[in-house]
Amino acid sequence: MANPEMLKKIIAHAKEYGFIFQSSEIYDGLSAVYDYGQNGVELKNNIKKYWWDSMVKLNENIVGIDTAIFMHPKIWTASGHVGAFSDPLIDNKDSKKRYRADVLIEDHREKIQLKINKDVDKAQKRFGDEFDKEEFLKTNKRVLDRQAKIDSITERFQNALNNDDLDDLKQLIVDEGIICPVSGSKNWTDVRQFNLMFDTKLGSVSEDADKIYLRPETAQGIFVNYLNVQKTGRMKLPFGIAQIGKAFRNEIVARQFIFRMREFEQMEMQFFIRPGEQEKWFEHWKNLRISWHKALNLGSEGYRFHDHDKLAHYATAATDIEFDFPMGFKELEGIHSRGDFDLSQHQEFSGKKLQYFDPELNKSYVPFVIETSIGLDRMFLAILSSSFKDEKIEKADGKTESRIVLKIHPALAPVKAAVLPLVKKDGLPEKAREILKELQYEFNCQYEEKDSIGKRYRRHDAIGTPFCITVDHQSLEDNTVTIRDRDTMQQERININEVKNIISEKTNMKNLFEKIENR
Ligand code: GAP
Repeated sequence: MANPEMLKKIIAHAKEYGFIFQSSEIYDGLSAVYDYGQNGVELKNNIKKYWWDSMVKLNENIVGIDTAIFMHPKIWTASGHVGAFSDPLIDNKDSKKRYRADVLIEDHREKIQLKINKDVDKAQKRFGDEFDKEEFLKTNKRVLDRQAKIDSITERFQNALNNDDLDDLKQLIVDEGIICPVSGSKNWTDVRQFNLMFDTKLGSVSEDADKIYLRPETAQGIFVNYLNVQKTGRMKLPFGIAQIGKAFRNEIVARQFIFRMREFEQMEMQFFIRPGEQEKWFEHWKNLRISWHKALNLGSEGYRFHDHDKLAHYATAATDIEFDFPMGFKELEGIHSRGDFDLSQHQEFSGKKLQYFDPELNKSYVPFVIETSIGLDRMFLAILSSSFKDEKIEKADGKTESRIVLKIHPALAPVKAAVLPLVKKDGLPEKAREILKELQYEFNCQYEEKDSIGKRYRRHDAIGTPFCITVDHQSLEDNTVTIRDRDTMQQERININEVKNIISEKTNMKNLFEKIENR
């Protein structure tokens, strides 16, 4: 459920602990562009590894590539992005703020849904164990009226989007009395289409230069290399090509931290299949992707599928995996049935055959494609926001204190272990560094000797370090250390020889991979 206060806390925490900084901050920042700090980049790399290995390493028939951001400009005409990659925008004449018309309507619809949820909560409290939610949703007059309202908005909204009826999109905003969140007025301009691609010039002499685009999705780099990979990898259908890389979109409404950025990273996989098998593979990838998410334990209530109100120009079926972000349920990943749209277009525009000879059917055809596409930065936000916990702890003397802890899955945690000498003397730092040196070959570890041990524990809780290894005077005598678990805060005395195995067992990505069902 939407929690704007939580989002503010997370943004502040991400900055304070070196996860995310506003880009160009000392020059007052650049809107909707962010930099990842020393802990952020580690978490990001671990997410990439979880995605990449689950696609490329664990599937015999999926390979990875890394294509250039700049591509031949004709590609974006063929792919339909020059003509159709746009968002409907609307301005409020009083606040001069610009919005996406579709987002205004979606948010309005979500508000009505939240009212229904509140009605349910209230009734649940009133009736206690007797409460039958399904029956309530089917019979309560107020809920039924609100649901009917949502349905009628959805129907009109989908028609307007699918028919590119920008006038009716505006009329829907007017009829629903949607107000500008800044000025509070209903003084709207007409709705216009706005292309989201950034362009620049290739070459050093501007008169001779060619306009080229910064790719708005990584997928096209895969499509134009389809034949290269299929031939050199001797790939047989069905097979997939995966890629992680930057994408750029001149978003009209770029708010909500790293949720909607102008420069971001995508993790995309195009799965090439026989025409006619798209429904089977669409279901297959829907199940596999939701299982990949759920393996992370971010809360199984936090996901839902949402079929698109309007299909993108390339898609014949599309669904989003939505996640319950601090801004409410929003798109985290898209799964799209792209048919043969992209390869056929590139075949036509390039004049090169992009077909597959199917030995079983003894014929050539353009393969169909199922795409899975997830924003790395959105995945980062999903993990950060769901693992951020503000906990109250009972102390031995009966008093309480609070701690902020990031309960990130140990396999994704930026730092796996902190090695801490209890004091900065008596040979403890030397012993601690000895342990650190050994652990560094396998894990990202940190050494810290400044401040009290309690403060150091808190600092590592705040960045999600699963283990703190403390070296004390006893360590010099019997080769033991204490190991503290981030989540339980329990400390155990163990032999130094056991440290590596304990960290390895808990932080191994295999723990995640094994939980992915139907692999
Ligand atoms: N190749 C298909 C494609 O690009 P999309 O739904 O436009 O589909 C896929 O984008 C994913 O990329 C989204 O689900 C989202 O996670 C991420 N994404 C899209 N625009 C973004 C933005 N401006 N900032 C951050 N992530 C974004």
